[in-house]
Amino acid sequence: MPMRLAVCVSGRGSNLVALLEALTGSAEAEVVLVLSNKADAPALDRARERGIPAEAFENFRDAAEWLERLARHQVDLVVLAGYLKLVPAGVISAYRGRILNIHPALLPDFGGPGMYGHHVHEAVVRSGVPFSGATVHLVDEEYDRGEILGQARVPVLPGDTADTLAARVLGAEHRLLPAVVLAAAAAGRPVPLPAPLSFSSH
Ligand code: GRF
Repeated sequence: MPMRLAVCVSGRGSNLVALLEALTGSAEAEVVLVLSNKADAPALDRARERGIPAEAFENFRDAAEWLERLARHQVDLVVLAGYLKLVPAGVISAYRGRILNIHPALLPDFGGPGMYGHHVHEAVVRSGVPFSGATVHLVDEEYDRGEILGQARVPVLPGDTADTLAARVLGAEHRLLPAVVLAAAAAGRPVPLPAPLSFSSH
């Protein structure tokens, strides 16, 4: 039986699309539900275009609503892909060890409150570090502090802006997230990748 995935989104859904494309034809995992805190998130349309149930929360803070929606679709694994709100504590405890998040930096650096989207890449460029990348980790009450399952590294290049770095990191995210999800499906539960991925492509 394929692992049943719910993907939570807030925006354009490029990570959702990358995951859906990577799972095309896979018997190991399938996206059975896409959830968003925003009824007008373009990512919901990406799901609908592919015949996948796509729902906006009535109240994204309500654990009972989350659990009812996840149970209705018999979800095994929850994937936060560009989801920008906190997951209710009741959901984290009910799905402990079964909620993944992708963060556009090499955690534990450049994570934590306020570190999302553009803010991350601005901080990385400003810091002068030579590398950045993406991290997929388990979500627990500490949010960006859960067990790291996979990382993909990209160079920070001279003259990089937050935008040019964001684009390079996003390309790495689109390869890292499917790799971690497929490893979880093969193992029956989230497992760490054997080694970090690294992409030198600009
Ligand atoms: C990505 O940078 C992801 O790492 C972050 O949200 C951004 C938007 O992702 N969590 P998407 O294009 O909506 O998948």
